[in-house]
Amino acid sequence: MLQLLQRIVRRGFDLVERGLDRVFGPALNPLAQLGALGFFLFWIVAVSGIYLFAVFDTGVDNAYASVEWYSTTGHRWHAGVMRSFHRYASDLMIVMMALHMLREFSLDRYRGVRWFSWITGVPIIWFLYISGITGYWLVWDRLAQYIAITSTELLDWLPIFGEPIARNFLAPSSLSSRFFTLLVFLHIAVPLVLLFTLWVHIQRITRPRINPPRLLAAMTLLTLLAASLMKPAMSQGPANLATVPSPVGLDWFYLPLYPLADAAPGALWGLLAAATVMLAAMPWLPPLRRMRPAAVDLEHCNGCGRCVEDCPYEALQLVPRTDGLPYAVQVEVNAGKCVSCGICTGSCPSSTPFRTADALPTGIDLPDLSFTDMRERVRALAATLTQTPRILVIGCWHGAAGSRRQDTLQLPCVAMAPPSLIDYVLSRGLADGVAVAGCAESACYNRLGLEWTRQRIAGERDPYLRARVPRERVATIWASPTDGARFEDELAVFRARLAALPPQPAAPAPRERVPVSSEAVP
Ligand code: HEM
Ligand code: SF4
Ligand code: SF4
Repeated sequence: MLQLLQRIVRRGFDLVERGLDRVFGPALNPLAQLGALGFFLFWIVAVSGIYLFAVFDTGVDNAYASVEWYSTTGHRWHAGVMRSFHRYASDLMIVMMALHMLREFSLDRYRGVRWFSWITGVPIIWFLYISGITGYWLVWDRLAQYIAITSTELLDWLPIFGEPIARNFLAPSSLSSRFFTLLVFLHIAVPLVLLFTLWVHIQRITRPRINPPRLLAAMTLLTLLAASLMKPAMSQGPANLATVPSPVGLDWFYLPLYPLADAAPGALWGLLAAATVMLAAMPWLPPLRRMRPAAVDLEHCNGCGRCVEDCPYEALQLVPRTDGLPYAVQVEVNAGKCVSCGICTGSCPSSTPFRTADALPTGIDLPDLSFTDMRERVRALAATLTQTPRILVIGCWHGAAGSRRQDTLQLPCVAMAPPSLIDYVLSRGLADGVAVAGCAESACYNRLGLEWTRQRIAGERDPYLRARVPRERVATIWASPTDGARFEDELAVFRARLAALPPQPAAPAPRERVPVSSEAVP
């Protein structure tokens, strides 16, 4: 059920993302920058909030008047615009968060050891909503009155307060400025807790993208400015506790559940509890079948630190040497953070297939898909390539090549294959061309695998593809599983390009028998 939903959402995202790729290009695609945009919006909300706090009167008697004053007088060109920025950036944050959560779900980037980012996302939802709701309350207009009464009645439904707090709103005389000051405190404290939780949220991610590209940031600011000028945020008339608030306009980003809170507070609490528990349980519904984590072979590790640089999940660190070899440090794997992507194997200088030995021990390897196994599979696949020119695909099983068996070396990430493997295939005449096929450009399953692969092929990152490798015989195809048609088109174009080149020298006879299976490891 959850998996069916995941496939449907994935298809939807892929469609929209492809369209946006065409408009913005993969680097500026907003859907690939949702977390970063969320952070950016947080800073906009924080800066505009500090500005507003400077001109806002926090006393219950003057709160409404002070907001009105800066929203409608000559101050509307700075403080009024800041108010609108504050409101619309907060609204947009909800949209970004919802899309970001859905996208991580659809890309299946939340199960297994990636549970941490997901679980820490759950309180973020709560803190963001509480921050927004307490903000609406501060304006002390009719909407604030409605929120105040409904929220306190909702809280009173839970048996936590000795005295019902809704009593504070029975009459104008019962509302104290102290209560209002508490609200102001909450509206500052909860966003700070939110910020702290956001920091925790990205602790298991290397180089988290927390700043959107400048152009995208500028476009977001311009959009907010345009909305603020065209439709400035306004209050809904002063609150008056002597009257029952007449119907108010609700903000559907922050307050969509308020009608239910009004009608059936018990049902709403039930819904919120069930949704929270369900969300928190999702990383284990069902649990991810994963390969064993990366393992270090100290004899082949010189402590160069390349794998530490490349691991996308903070799973590696350099520690003092323990085996007496003449190097200062060695690498250590934190099995609880390792997603078994194999990128570290692709980074290690010991991962070279040009050795004559049958076994290819390397500094860091996946026990369930070793580097030795990779070379054997490549040889076996090469022996079965019949279509000419012969193309060997090095494919990520999360991308469009994930379902191919006949010509594809299936890997958990294309960056698991060191560039020397491409060199090996071409220089040994095992194929006429190598296609490196990963996830869609804006949606690398392993976050950094695509970027590292591209940089290695371009010679910008160690280990790089040697200059002697004929670049015209290497292609990269970035396509998601729902974009199989484009994958085939690009492969056909590559084949035609290869056909126009002089033939490769024939493959030497294999020295040993190798299994012909290219089954992906679970
Ligand atoms: C305003 C709210 C949020 C912000 C600003 C935010 C921000 C971020 C950022 C910057 C990253 C790192 C992205 C990268 O560099 O690859 C990230 C990752 C992630 N977020 Fe959020 N996040 C928010 C809410 C949530 C929520 C509500 C959930 C789910 C309940 C969630 C789930 C995840 C997951 C699963 C990852 C890790 C993906 C991976 O392992 O590749 N986030 N988030
Ligand atoms: S397999 Fe991936 S997550 Fe694990 S240590 Fe290597 S690079 Fe890091
Ligand atoms: S890349 Fe290889 S040699 Fe370098 S620290 Fe990692 S395991 Fe050791």
